[in-house]
Amino acid sequence: MSANEFYSLQVNGKNMPVQDSWIGESLLYVLRERLGLPGTKGACEQGECGSCTVLMDGDAVCACLVMAATAVNSEITTVEGITSESALTDVQQSFVEEGAVQCGFCTPGLIVAVHHLLEKNPSPSELEVKEAISGNICRCTGYGRVFAAVEATIRSRNEVK
Ligand code: FES
Ligand code: FES
Repeated sequence: MSANEFYSLQVNGKNMPVQDSWIGESLLYVLRERLGLPGTKGACEQGECGSCTVLMDGDAVCACLVMAATAVNSEITTVEGITSESALTDVQQSFVEEGAVQCGFCTPGLIVAVHHLLEKNPSPSELEVKEAISGNICRCTGYGRVFAAVEATIRSRNEVK
C-alpha cells in the first residue's frame, strides 16, 4: 500500500485503490470523486431519493448512506458495471424505447434498482415492481413510463426463453 492510499474497494469486478481520502467519506462521494465513476448520482444525500443506488454484495443500497471505508470487504456494482458489454442492457434499452429516461438524473438509480429486482424476481407483480422502485424518487412526471419499461423488459425476456 502506498503512503497516501488508505484502502481499496472492489468495484465492478476491479480492485480500486482509494487515495487521498478522508476516512468518513461516503461511498457515493468516493465512487464519483475518487474513483471516476460519475454514473451514481447524488441528490438528497440523506437516503431519501435513490439516485445513488448501487449494489453491495447483491443488495441495493443508497451509496450516500454507506461509509466507503466500511465497504472494503464488499463487492460493489455501480450502473457502469451492470454489464461488461459496451451495448445497453435490455433494461436500459427498454427505458430508452419506452421514454422512461425523462430527466435522466434519477435514471441510473432506477436502472440499478430494476436490474436488482429482475435478478431476484424475474416475474414481479405490479405491486412488487412498485415496491422495488419505491425508494427511487421521480421529481418530474411520474412513473408510468418506468413501469412500461419494466414490463417491456420482462416481455422481451419471456420471448427469448
Ligand atoms: S443521494 Fe442517496 S438517497 Fe438520495
Ligand atoms: S425522471 Fe428523473 S426526476 Fe423524474
